[in-house]
Amino acid sequence: MNARSALLILLGLVIGILGTVFAMKALGNRNPMPHAVMTVMGHHMGALGQAVKSGQCDAAQINDHLLRLQSTSGDIAAAFPSAEQDFLDHAGRLRNALQDAVQAHPTDCAALAKVTKPVGDSCKSCHQQYR
Ligand code: HEC
Repeated sequence: MNARSALLILLGLVIGILGTVFAMKALGNRNPMPHAVMTVMGHHMGALGQAVKSGQCDAAQINDHLLRLQSTSGDIAAAFPSAEQDFLDHAGRLRNALQDAVQAHPTDCAALAKVTKPVGDSCKSCHQQYR
């Protein structure tokens, strides 16, 4: 191997390492909040959907999930700090739907299905536009 090709190989290695460092920094800098907030809401919506599906709608548990959804939805604006007004309006509609759901205080599966419908619609309409 001559000196020139050895140098090229070395150069390739250095560029590769630099590229990896940059990629890792970019990943590390990615704001974890949007993912975290959405994952938590997904968890509680999933639990409510499961309750309806299995016909086991315990009033206290339902209420707990709804309250957690409601409080987590209050973090959407903070999780997406550069969001435009229309995005925030979507988040506002979700908060309204959740407030209605909490106030309706569903105690059985039929009532739960009814109040979570507008909530799910609010998730969906924002996802269709922004996800
Ligand atoms: C105001 C807009 C908006 C609303 C309302 C909204 N979402 Fe999201 N959601 C997003 C965006 C934007 C993403 C993509 C986030 C990303 O990629 O970082 C997302 C992603 C997700 C994800 C995937 C998370 C991930 O990073 O893997 C889940 C799960 C989720 N949302 C659940 C929900 C649920 C459940 C609701 C309703 C209770 C909801 N979202 C309401 C905007 C919204």
